[in-house]
Amino acid sequence: MMSVIENTLRIDGQEIPFTPGQTIMDAALAAKLYIPHLCHYPGLSPSGNCRLCIVEIGNRSVAACITPAAASQEIHSNTPELNQARKALTQMLFVEGDHICPSCEKTGNCKLQAMAYYLGLLDDHFPPFYQRREIDASHPDILLDRRRCILCDLCVRASSEVDGKNVFAIAGRGTQAHLIVNSPSGKLVDSPIAKTDLAATICPVGAILIKEQGYQIPIGQRIYDQQTIRETGLQENIT
Ligand code: SF4
Ligand code: SF4
Ligand code: FES
Repeated sequence: MMSVIENTLRIDGQEIPFTPGQTIMDAALAAKLYIPHLCHYPGLSPSGNCRLCIVEIGNRSVAACITPAAASQEIHSNTPELNQARKALTQMLFVEGDHICPSCEKTGNCKLQAMAYYLGLLDDHFPPFYQRREIDASHPDILLDRRRCILCDLCVRASSEVDGKNVFAIAGRGTQAHLIVNSPSGKLVDSPIAKTDLAATICPVGAILIKEQGYQIPIGQRIYDQQTIRETGLQENIT
């Protein structure tokens, strides 16, 4: 019988096993060690774009979700400096879009909001961008509100890797980057997306919403009324 070679690395002083091919994030989550993340989802390929998962190896900072685990790595994931950097990244995500939580359908179920609570954010710090971004309400079941999109790329990967439909893509770069719909009109209604698709439900924020479900869950019973993002982050998996 073939045996899987198992090595170990250390994260915050804890010895963690890993198998070849795993990333630092894979190994950490398998060991129930939480590293903050927004654009990573177990079962989808990593994209490494939110940078919330930065960790230190020696004097280098790397994104845990795209860095291969290697034997004897000595990793720090929870230093004041890293958490300060994560706070600044999260504040930037807030000001790049229009995030007015009390009026948002996703409030209480939103990972960006939950990350802000987890990191102890008290304000946005940076001035708001007030970018004009298009809303696509064309689909009978699904709303796309790009004003809240954090360009995490999860809907893009879910649609291509799981749904097999390739409905979404990210176009442009830097401050011009935006989510597009791969359909003849560029509208969701002309795409093959369905409300049961993973791409329609994986959005961590209130950018892709299923219509006629807003505010259905009472305050107190929403996901992050009951758990922190650390707890949900340790439980998630597509399969
Ligand atoms: Fe707040 Fe999340 Fe809605 Fe943005 S998407 S307004 S962070 S609840
Ligand atoms: Fe991520 Fe949602 Fe934007 Fe898609 S719509 S890139 S899932 S934030
Ligand atoms: Fe690693 Fe987003 S979770 S870069």
